[in-house]
Amino acid sequence: MAVDTLDLHIEEPGQVVGFLGPNGSGKTTTIRCMLGLIRPTAGSITLLGSEMPAGASLALARVGALVENPKFFEEFTGRRNLRLLGRIHGIQRKEIDQILNQVGLADAADMKVRKYSLGMKQRLGVAATLLKDPELLVLDEPANGLDPAGIVEMRRLLRDLGDSGKTVFVSSHQLGEIEQVCDEVVIIDHGKVVTSGPVDKIVNTSSSNALIVTIENTEQARKVLEEKGFTVSSRTNNQIEVKPAPENPATITQILADAGIYLTGLRTEEGNLEEVFLGLTEGRSGDML
Ligand SMILES: Nc1ncnc2c1ncn2[C@@H]1O[C@H](COP(=O)(O)OP(=O)(O)OP(=O)(O)O)[C@@H](O)[C@H]1O
Ligand SMILES: [Mg+2]
Repeated sequence: MAVDTLDLHIEEPGQVVGFLGPNGSGKTTTIRCMLGLIRPTAGSITLLGSEMPAGASLALARVGALVENPKFFEEFTGRRNLRLLGRIHGIQRKEIDQILNQVGLADAADMKVRKYSLGMKQRLGVAATLLKDPELLVLDEPANGLDPAGIVEMRRLLRDLGDSGKTVFVSSHQLGEIEQVCDEVVIIDHGKVVTSGPVDKIVNTSSSNALIVTIENTEQARKVLEEKGFTVSSRTNNQIEVKPAPENPATITQILADAGIYLTGLRTEEGNLEEVFLGLTEGRSGDML
């Protein structure tokens, strides 16, 4: 079973919602169901008020979707591909230029798609979803294959789209990006939702803060702290990690000083979405591995 009793609501428009899960957890299957591309064996899906897949023609007119690799005419330029698609929606040339600009393809607009890199094709895919000025964008791993600069641009684009009042539902493996750009996040595993809610709430409710202690004799310090009941692990040859971090870091300084050990550095490392994700999905990297 790819998706099992998955319960998911996005009520408020203008939100950027991250959809996360390990490989094979059911993200693409869920997105396909949402868009009416496949029919679930049980359950119901309402997209912008229309029951899917029956209401697909009504709902999809207001949705821009990018699911896996979009297909374009390889022998045509990016601009020509968009113009062709744009004709369906009565889009003017000027608007196409603006969209090309928005996705960072202005310079490559007159190049044949055959010569596009993976990242450029991905951007063209996003551009195509923007043509009909959709209320809802459903993007399955839009940052796939993008270089670091491209990822940053994609992040800005998603944020801009959210800020302009569009709802963006985006699946991704780039947890750092999701953490920075999304208002809400849904994490699934084995086809079930394991957690969902505002990003900051999910990151902060996890007791994932750690205290990084820099010290000369890490083994000795580790022993002393473990005797006091702390969970300690090695970081580097002169750093140890105390996790969960004690409420008052001075406790650590005190315990070590009492044992005649003097630390040279102490800092709190805040938990992040990656740790929460790995914790909830047991660090799985797909079923095949
Ligand atoms: N057409 C299909 N026929 C049979 N099983 C499928 C099919 N498509 C997907 N699956 C299975 O459904 C499960 C969920 O797959 P899905 O593609 O939805 O995962 P995903 O979360 O999108 O993964 P990824 O991060 O790799 O894109 C997997 O176990 C996969 O093997
Ligand atoms: Mg997928």
